Amino acid sequence: MKLTRLSLVLSAGLFMLITSSCDKGKSVTDGAEAKADRLVAQMTLDEKIGQMSQLDLGYFMDPEQLKQAVREGRCGSLLNFLGVEQVNEIQRIAVEESRLGIPLIIGRDVIHGYRTVFPIPLGMAASWNPEAVRKAFRISAVEASSDGIKWTFAPMIDITWDPRWGRIAEGCGEDPYLASTLAAAMVKGIQGDSLTDPTALAACAKHYVGYGFAEAGRDYNTTYIPEPLLRNVVLKPFHAAKEAGAQTFMSAFNDLNGIPTSGNRFTLKKILREEWGFDGFVVSDWASVTEMVNHGFAEDDKQAAEIAINAGVEMEMATTSYYANIKALLDEKKITMEQIDDAVRDILKVKYRLGLFDNPYTDPEAGKRILDPSFLDHARTVARQSAVLLKNEDAALPLSEDKIASVAVIGPLADAPRDQLGTWCFDGRAENSVTPLKAIRDLLGDKKVNYVQALAYSRDKSKANFSAAVAAARRSDAVLFFGGEEWILSGEGQSRGEINMPGAQTELLEALAATGKPVILVIMAGRPLAIGREIELSDAVLYAWHAGTMAGPAITDLLFGKESPSGKLPVTFVKGAGQIPFYYYRNNTGRPASDETWTPFDSIPTVNPQSSLGYRTFHLDYGYTPLLPFGYGLSYTTFKYSDLTLSSQVMKIDGTLTVRARVTNTGNMDADEIVQFYVRDRVGSITRPIKELKGYNRLRISRGETTDVEFTLTAADLAFFNGRGEVTEPGKFDVWIGPSSEEGLHADFILE
Ligand code: GLC
Repeated sequence: MKLTRLSLVLSAGLFMLITSSCDKGKSVTDGAEAKADRLVAQMTLDEKIGQMSQLDLGYFMDPEQLKQAVREGRCGSLLNFLGVEQVNEIQRIAVEESRLGIPLIIGRDVIHGYRTVFPIPLGMAASWNPEAVRKAFRISAVEASSDGIKWTFAPMIDITWDPRWGRIAEGCGEDPYLASTLAAAMVKGIQGDSLTDPTALAACAKHYVGYGFAEAGRDYNTTYIPEPLLRNVVLKPFHAAKEAGAQTFMSAFNDLNGIPTSGNRFTLKKILREEWGFDGFVVSDWASVTEMVNHGFAEDDKQAAEIAINAGVEMEMATTSYYANIKALLDEKKITMEQIDDAVRDILKVKYRLGLFDNPYTDPEAGKRILDPSFLDHARTVARQSAVLLKNEDAALPLSEDKIASVAVIGPLADAPRDQLGTWCFDGRAENSVTPLKAIRDLLGDKKVNYVQALAYSRDKSKANFSAAVAAARRSDAVLFFGGEEWILSGEGQSRGEINMPGAQTELLEALAATGKPVILVIMAGRPLAIGREIELSDAVLYAWHAGTMAGPAITDLLFGKESPSGKLPVTFVKGAGQIPFYYYRNNTGRPASDETWTPFDSIPTVNPQSSLGYRTFHLDYGYTPLLPFGYGLSYTTFKYSDLTLSSQVMKIDGTLTVRARVTNTGNMDADEIVQFYVRDRVGSITRPIKELKGYNRLRISRGETTDVEFTLTAADLAFFNGRGEVTEPGKFDVWIGPSSEEGLHADFILE
């Protein structure tokens, strides 16, 4: 067996940022501060208030009103205003017709692609490939900037444990380490190597902070997050985004422990500014300032403006409480001119860093790169790497395009060009989508493909076309069922109470399985679904998420073995909504459950003594394990992990510890494996998780080849906030290297 020594020194906790010469806020002596200072000194109060107002195009009744507002310096930023001609025209008014010529910054939600649409961010997170994700966001910035956009409200890096929450689609899943590595990559992609590059956009880390912990997964709902959880989990990706140089942050909608995050001095001032030294600017979310009246935290819009300004929200998105009230608040000494100047200075600094004063206009020729073939190729690669193989009984996959006589392509998402783009897709166009049906027909030829949509959309309950679908299955060698969710069932304001496959999809799958033909289930969805029954009914299951413009070719590549699936789950899959929240880094509790303590529901005796069935932490029906664990994902090949070694049994608190293992591709196909590194702190001054991801690496391992992998721990990787401060505590630790959060080679060491 050939041994390829591949030594990967990963400073596990300090993951290698995709470093570049990028401007990084305060650390860049870019002169922006001084320029902004000089400009602030020349500005009238009206002009300062204008910079603190971001207005949506819809706010203006007619274009002339908008032009006049810009001419008078009454807004410093526009939202959802795009198109190179229109932007250049309005920018010319700002630069040439306003008193000080301050350029506008145009903002837009470019969340997972612009015209070339990539998988939803939760899907991209399943690739565990920061470099591929960085490149996807770089491509998105190149396309968006060609339309005059210079600021995107991304990355969305809200940790969540709740698949009912519609916006789980938009984030990077449940784990702070994985989300932090991806947050850094996304910021690097958005902002590029130099902020003054015409294709650079300002990134916006959102939604700061805690929005993903909405009670019951109901969007905009209350959040209660104890400070240890806030600091040890929820804030981690935001800190990574700041360290990667994100120029803006967005305050959120939710109230956090009773204080709305758009009026929260603790998060916006103490943590973001004083502890982290962030020196870009903070924008509110859409109307999140005035919504503090609804929260019952402000009497009226005026008090809401006062609270937000005092908390550190520097630009108000979409509403005009700043515009309407700052002068009165100054007169009443509720806020100070110093606060106003600080806010305007931060905004102007970012505009200077983006080069907007020197190059305010967009090159009309830049749009020629939109949908460039190389961009579509990358979208196909990312979609391939994002798909997760959940089941593959008797090697039902891959199919052979040469041997297969015909396939039945069935289901509501086989040919759904808009749905496959997913949520938060303002500018992607269904006309550019290549659907699975199209890609399979292109590969096999129409004659080999028996297509029956059977259900018009994912919520369709009609069984009228079941017989046609079953007939197609009977006359085919295999069934490819494309199901899941329409795009509208996830995203903002689109949370679900149940997380099952909607409509009559499961019944249709049962009818198809009854034919005895191999059934391959491909799911496109915006969240983890509770698909236990559907997995049972299928021979193979590929979870493709809403996979973007090139979903069809990417899925077809995998189904027919051009590449092996390699994705791993970035979020736990639960058996049903009743199990939520269920995340892998949970605490052990005083009564951990096990197979010895849990009696399967249907095996519970009908006559029972008063004593319980185990007095352990489980559900009688769901048990104590998820449907599928974080980090899980199969391959067409097999990998063997061996030879776990530690550089020492004892790690000094001022030293390091290196953990090594070998991974062998024991199958007959070259493939990627995402090797994961977990740590457990056995005893702490607060209860500690049973496992925490501290490193990972996507490795390409040829068939028959063995690769070495190593991860190096420092004390910083073992630090945590215990409610009183950041601590690293001596004691016993476990480590694992393996293919998921539930499998791996184990060892332990002592930290002293
Ligand atoms: C929305 C979202 C936010 C988005 C903003 C602008 O309500 O919460 O993520 O960036 O408004 O569209």
